[in-house]
Amino acid sequence: MVEEILTAGSTDAQQHLATFAEMLCELFRDPPFNFEWQFGDSEDPSSALGFLTLLKQEGAMFWYISGEDGKIASFAFGLVLTERVIETLGLADFEGTIHPQPGDYYCAGAATAKPYRKRGYFSALAEKRLDAARAHGCRRVWVRTHTQCGIVRHTYADNRGFEIAGTYTANQGSGTMTSVMMYRDLLEC
Ligand SMILES: CC(C)(COP(=O)(O)OP(=O)(O)OC[C@H]1O[C@@H](n2cnc3c(N)ncnc32)[C@H](O)[C@@H]1OP(=O)(O)O)[C@@H](O)C(=O)NCCC(=O)NCCS
Repeated sequence: MVEEILTAGSTDAQQHLATFAEMLCELFRDPPFNFEWQFGDSEDPSSALGFLTLLKQEGAMFWYISGEDGKIASFAFGLVLTERVIETLGLADFEGTIHPQPGDYYCAGAATAKPYRKRGYFSALAEKRLDAARAHGCRRVWVRTHTQCGIVRHTYADNRGFEIAGTYTANQGSGTMTSVMMYRDLLEC
């Protein structure tokens, strides 16, 4: 069901990134995010396309599930964290005792198109990224979401044992967001 795109060397990656960027702009417009994400260009990491391009350059993998109409029903992306990503996305800018480190895995984003919601697609893509984190030998996995995004908190905290490391309010480029950072350890320290 889940298609995997290895972006490095993938000939159709750029076309997919453009579709994913369009979906980010559309699907994060609603509460609680209320993002005013611009499609933008690949050089601007505060735009949807630039954000995806930055992550791709840093080694992100992308997965998607096709709908019956042949369009993308759901997609997600994640990567092994680098200093550049932690700094550019402000992932460690919160009070707390545990922060993302290079080498940890980051579930960087996901969305399901409205007609395809509540079919388990997001959960399937969460599992894919946990599998990728294990395959890379990552010690810890991170997810950031809006504090009011109950579906994501339920999917990761209630169903997959993630814990809260901290909350903070910051400008994400696409809009100001009060975020919760959640993590789960995969390996014993
Ligand atoms: C969040 C989002 C990706 C969920 O996608 P989805 O494919 O519908 O999610 P799933 O069907 O896999 O459901 C995941 C869990 O949340 C629950 N859930 C899904 N939608 C729900 C809703 N509207 N209300 C309550 N629970 C809901 C499901 O029941 C499931 O839990 P369960 O396994 O215990 O039954 C989708 O709503 C979306 O794209 N929202 C806008 C963008 C966004 O928030 N992205 C995530 C940012 S970090």
